Formats: sequence, C-alpha cells, structure tokens
Amino acid sequence: MTNPYYPQGGPSLKGMANLIKSSDTKNIIIMAGAGISTSAVPPIPDFRSPSTGLYANLAKYDLPYPEAIFDISYFHQKPQPFFTLSKELYPGKFKPSLAHVFFKLLHDKGKLLTVFTQNVDTLERIAGLPPSSIVEAHGSFASSTCTKCKRKVDESWMKEKVLRGEIAYCPHPKCPSALSKVGAHSASSSRALVKPDIVFFGEGLPKRFFEKVRDFKSCDLLIVMGTSLQVEPFASLINAVPESCPRALINLERVGELAAYSGHGMSSTMREEGFDFEGCTLGGKHMARDFFFQGKADDSVRLLARECGWEEELQALLRETYDRLDREWGLGQTQSQNDTVTAPAGSASTDQIDDLDVLASKLGSTGLGEAIHLAKKDGVDSSEYAARLVEKHIRDLIEKNQSENKAASSSPSTPHDNLPSRPLVVGLQGPHACG
Ligand code: OAD
Repeated sequence: MTNPYYPQGGPSLKGMANLIKSSDTKNIIIMAGAGISTSAVPPIPDFRSPSTGLYANLAKYDLPYPEAIFDISYFHQKPQPFFTLSKELYPGKFKPSLAHVFFKLLHDKGKLLTVFTQNVDTLERIAGLPPSSIVEAHGSFASSTCTKCKRKVDESWMKEKVLRGEIAYCPHPKCPSALSKVGAHSASSSRALVKPDIVFFGEGLPKRFFEKVRDFKSCDLLIVMGTSLQVEPFASLINAVPESCPRALINLERVGELAAYSGHGMSSTMREEGFDFEGCTLGGKHMARDFFFQGKADDSVRLLARECGWEEELQALLRETYDRLDREWGLGQTQSQNDTVTAPAGSASTDQIDDLDVLASKLGSTGLGEAIHLAKKDGVDSSEYAARLVEKHIRDLIEKNQSENKAASSSPSTPHDNLPSRPLVVGLQGPHACG
C-alpha cells in the first residue's frame, strides 16, 4: 500500500527528497535548534549534549544551575556570567553550516515558507535568508534593549561592550536609572542593564513568533533539525501542522515522541502528541507520517541535495556564501565548509609557512604531514586553515575506519541503516510498542 504522506519512496530520505522536489511542495517549514550550528565555522556548541554541550561546560561561571545563565532573575542579580559568555558567542565571526545554506537553497527554489529557529546566533540571516522567512523564536543577538527604559541601543556600542567583556548599562541620559543617579558615579546596582534581545527563561517569546504560528496551517512538509525539543512552547509546534502534513526529524537522537514520559513516578506525565515514527497510530511503519533520520544535519542535507540533484548547487552556494562573508568581514580568504581551501595566489605569509614546515616535518610522511604539505602547496597562509585541514583529515580517517569496519561486518548498508533498531520501550506501553 502506498504511504499517503511519502507517496514516492515511503518514510525515508529518498521519500523526503521526492516530496521536496515535487511541484506540489511549496511551503516547507523548518524548526531548528542548536544542533545545526555545531558545524558552523568555527563550531558553536549546543546546549544539552552530555559532554560537549554548553550546559555541561559552565563550571567556571559558578552558577547555581546551568540554565541560570539565561535566567532573567539571575541576570538581574549577576549579569557578569552572561556577558562573559556573550563575548564568546557574539555573532560576527561564525559562518553558517551547510544546513543553513540548504535552507537558503530551499528558499531560492521557492520551496521554503519559514524557518523557525531557537538559535540566537543569527546564522539564518547570515546565510542570506530574507527576514520575512525567519522567526527567531528565542530572539537573537542582533539587537539589544535597556531592561528599564526599553530603548534599543546602538548595535556597534553594544558590540564593543560585549567584546570587551563588560557589563552593558543603559547609556541613554533619559533612562530613569540615569535620572535617579546621585552624582556621576551611581552604584552599578542601581543602573539599568542592557540585554541582547535573547529570550531568557522567565520572559515571553517575541510577538512575531505568535503572529507567524499561523504559517503552520499551510505547511506541506515539516523538517525538525538539531533540537532536543525540550523547551516550550517551541517544542509543541510540531503538532501545529495539518494532520495530512508529513514530518521529518533530523537529529543525533530521537526526540519529541508521542507518549514519551516526562517526570518521575506518580508525577510523570505521558505526552499525547508528538512524533510517531513507528506509525503506531496509522497501521505500521510503512504508513508512518513521521520519519526519523539519525545523523548530523549537514550529512542529511548533503544526502537530500544529492537525491534532489542539487548537490553541486548546494556546494556552489556554500562557497558563494563564504566568499561573500570573507569579503564583508574583510578576511580576504576563502574556505568552503567542505574544506577545499583556496587562498588568493601570493597571499602566503612566510612566517606562518615556516611554522607549518616545522610542523609538517615533525609529522614526517604520516598522513597529517602530507595534509599540511598539501595545504601549503594550495597556498594556505594561516595555521588556522591548516588546523582545519588536519581536522578534516582525521575525520576522513575515522570515517574510513568506520566504513571499513562496516564493510567487514557482513550486512549491506544504505544511509538508512543509520536508523537504530527498535528502541527500548519506555514505560508501561511505550511509544514503540505497536508492532
Ligand atoms: P539542545 O542542546 O537542547 O539540543 C540540540 C540537539 O541537537 C540534541 O538533540 C543533539 O543531539 C542534536 N545535535 C547536536 N549536533 C547535531 C548535529 N550536528 N546534527 C543534528 N543534530 C545534532 O538545543 P536546543 O534544542 O536548540 O534557550 O535548545 C533549545 C533551547 O534551550 C535553546 O534555544 C536555549 C536553550 O536553553 C534559550 O536560550 C532561551
């Protein structure tokens, strides 16, 4: 029987690609989270991944609990941790990932309705999506407001403050906190803080989020990518699409599932809505409306672009985007995320090349030494680029090892073999117990 949601190819990456290509599909909605920026250049950590996530690495801030760094009450008591972190995360040095560029490609093809992102890194804008197709559900670093007089502050002023690691106090002479000053140097505790327009825990979501929720009514394919779906109300948006709309989750692990339990013991609740990858409510997996691709966002979009016949266009758009940013940011160098390094001829700095030579000769004829020699031959002029190349080389070696191991184990493999075997049943009648 043909699957009504994925008529060509069923609930699979191929089925999804066929939907994307179909002339009937014009209103794709993407719900994105921090996982899509973990491969930005340089990478931005997500929040909840066990050892690499931001929340696992905040010990130096001495917080009562990790989320306090984004808690509005805590911010008013102790703003320094947030400002120190902001210095690291402030936009202006991060380039978008391949996934962000894929969103732009979907837009250029007339397929994209809206990207709802929880990310505050502005990489959707930086990738070139028009503001009309982006909803920054948790706000962003792009603008900042005084917490007292509610005036927006000049962005270059704010950027300077943040990049100096300073706490930003309202500079406006008419701010009530300035008027209440006794003398020129009032105590900092009485001065109004300026905060980037990021939604903190304890604050409401932007008006635009609620205005644009109506887009979900006309969604014809929902793609959820790189989010743990732990934060409401964003997480519940997966249920806002029409019942006929296929939904795909692309993530390192399964999240947002129907009937998943939250809480413990007697106080636990069972979610009545959510993904149903096994098609429990629809007669089995082959009839499922929801598809789960376990893996990295960038790998999935690369495969999707290949299936759609857009792989070269995607690569070209990535290169174009990085070239544009290099020009805008005055870097004068080009690096595609695919790690093909092309520096302008004659741009090599002799000092750095010497350092690379020393490094390469220490590594000798190992693969890494060769990688560095190759980088040098390509005109690479910074050790940062060389480091990326080496990183890529290590990744390739790991992948090669993995595929050799896979080949050694007898079963034939397709990208869909990434899907986990039937997962553990959760609770009394778990989400996957339909078979
Ligand atoms: P999380 O850190 O909670 O979840 C990121 C998800 O992405 C996890 O499920 C990861 O396994 C997955 N992931 C990581 N790398 C990936 C990759 N390369 N490809 C695909 N998946 C990957 O981040 P969010 O769900 O975005 O709120 O977090 C939601 C909100 O919680 C954030 O907006 C932030 C935070 O507290 C505020 O700051 C208000």
